[in-house]
Amino acid sequence: MSRKILVTGGAGYIGSHIVRQLGESGYDIVIYDNCSTGIPQAVLCGELIVGDLSDINRLYQIFGKYRFDAVIHLAARLVVPESVDYPLEYYSNNTCNTTNLLHCCNVMGVDKLIFSSTAAVYGESHHSPVTEDVTPLPINPYGRSKLMSELIIQDYAKASSLRYVILRYFNVGGADPAGRIGQNSRHANHLIANACNAALKRQPTLKIFGTDFPTPDGTGIRDYIHVEDLATAHIDSLRYLEDGGNSEIFNCGYGEGYSVRQVVERVKAISGVDFPVINGERRAGDPASVTASIEKIKKVLNWQPRYNNLDAIISSALAWEKRKLKSCE
Ligand code: UFG
Repeated sequence: MSRKILVTGGAGYIGSHIVRQLGESGYDIVIYDNCSTGIPQAVLCGELIVGDLSDINRLYQIFGKYRFDAVIHLAARLVVPESVDYPLEYYSNNTCNTTNLLHCCNVMGVDKLIFSSTAAVYGESHHSPVTEDVTPLPINPYGRSKLMSELIIQDYAKASSLRYVILRYFNVGGADPAGRIGQNSRHANHLIANACNAALKRQPTLKIFGTDFPTPDGTGIRDYIHVEDLATAHIDSLRYLEDGGNSEIFNCGYGEGYSVRQVVERVKAISGVDFPVINGERRAGDPASVTASIEKIKKVLNWQPRYNNLDAIISSALAWEKRKLKSCE
């Protein structure tokens, strides 16, 4: 009998890639998404239920009807500056709603959870590459809302039969290599998306936030991971829990850092467009360098990334943005 998986936030950018891979792996999928940033067209398989995690009565009904084997929980708000302006939205949406989900798991006996967390839990007080065992010290409400969720999950797991995998995402980019799905959020304001938009002339320039960091070229260094490999880490986590694996936290990156200038140069080379670049001030709260130690996920999950290459991330992101542009014409 095929296993039934609930994916919250499965209509979003990362969730839709996970849902597609789950479908390809033979799982039976229910997607619960309020479609505030996700879109129904991104759901390529499974059954989409449009709803909010704050509606706990509806959640209980859904858990009762489908009898899930495991839950993959992604639904969340994720814009750092927005979290500073509207912290309660973040604590309600990200932290309280996680508690709702755990209540349902508790009542319905669901004992496997994969939780989408973020490198933002680490804050600034660490050395790159960062290992999972450093004490997290997030510096914004987004990071804190995710860390609180992690802690609640851990406390609940100690008091129940729940086993979990917490995945801390680093900088996610790229799109489905077959071009079916990609980043759709109107609020996407990340470096690769912005540079692609500059190359496609949807924005006049690309502004670099800070050129005086203590890095070789003065710009911020990040660990960019292809969304397709990140999705695979979820499938691997699910199989690990199904095989009886213990609760664990894993970083999801490639363990390699690229500077803003390096990313911009690759976007220019791949697109063939020499768009104007402006050197701007640092953005509040941006650390100089954030890269992941990924020894643990490779060892425990035997995770084998297939797109571990900045050009592959940029090419697929650019192809997706071009496709979106065409569909708007
Ligand atoms: N940057 C620019 N210009 C831009 C956009 C970004 O110079 O137009 C720079 C940033 O200052 C930073 C780097 O590019 O140095 C990457 O910035 P992103 O906005 O793409 O990503 P962040 O590293 O700020 O944040 C991302 C996610 C967060 C997550 C964090 C974890 O957006 O949700 O990674 O490391 F918490």
